[in-house]
Amino acid sequence: MIILKSAHEIECIRKASKLTADCLEMLAKAAKPGLTTLELDQMAEQYIRSHGGIPSCKGYYGFPATICASVNDEVVHGIPSAKRKLKNGDVLSIDLVSKVDDYHGDSAITIPIGHVKPEVMKLLKVTEESLFKGIEMAQPGNHIGDIGHAVQSYCEQHGYGVVRDFVGHGLGRDMHEDPQIPNYGEAGHGPQIKPGMVLCIEPMITLGTYKVEVLGDDWTTVTLDGKPAAHFEHTVVVTENGPEILTMRSEPRLIK
Ligand code: MF3
Ligand code: CO
Repeated sequence: MIILKSAHEIECIRKASKLTADCLEMLAKAAKPGLTTLELDQMAEQYIRSHGGIPSCKGYYGFPATICASVNDEVVHGIPSAKRKLKNGDVLSIDLVSKVDDYHGDSAITIPIGHVKPEVMKLLKVTEESLFKGIEMAQPGNHIGDIGHAVQSYCEQHGYGVVRDFVGHGLGRDMHEDPQIPNYGEAGHGPQIKPGMVLCIEPMITLGTYKVEVLGDDWTTVTLDGKPAAHFEHTVVVTENGPEILTMRSEPRLIK
């Protein structure tokens, strides 16, 4: 069941989304070679709690941390660790959900650490662009399949893999609500998009195969061929006039 949000609920989601976006912006500036993913996680938790929020992922089905920190071939759900020191040339995906007044805000970015190979920078850029292509489709009267179709066709034009095993989602009082929003699919298919829907659109795109596997820690998801992946996500509210991005940062594009 897709829950349409009232103006009041949208204001609550807006607050949580702003906190999530501000925290990601802080983390993007802080991430440098030599820092561990656990240090970034601690900075995130401290930031969120000191600004009146709660880290939504911590304890979610037993997930132990505030951020998901996924490096290189890790696609999503990497667990922050003192053993994972960032190094020059890595790419780091940070996925963060925070809660304010019982509503969530969800966003993800992939950050280059130091100097990253041009072919990997291109993957980051195209993935971020594909997120905006998907968001553009979140118009009243369109269908959820239009979003995935836009993301998929753009990324596959560039020869990239579109991860199938994880999808975007609705959001509200729960971090994951209906509808599911695949990053692939057919235009005109799926539920019709209506004003009041809050949608998390989150392309997970790879340099090689779209096939992934979950490691023995039950969370960390890696590409089967070991090639790098990128992940960008925004929380979006559908209005009569089209999509509004609630997790927008002060610099709209991370990758220039
Ligand atoms: N932020 C993720 C998403 O986009 C969910 C994180 S999974 C968690 O759906 F278990 F770590 F919380
Ligand atoms: Co999400």
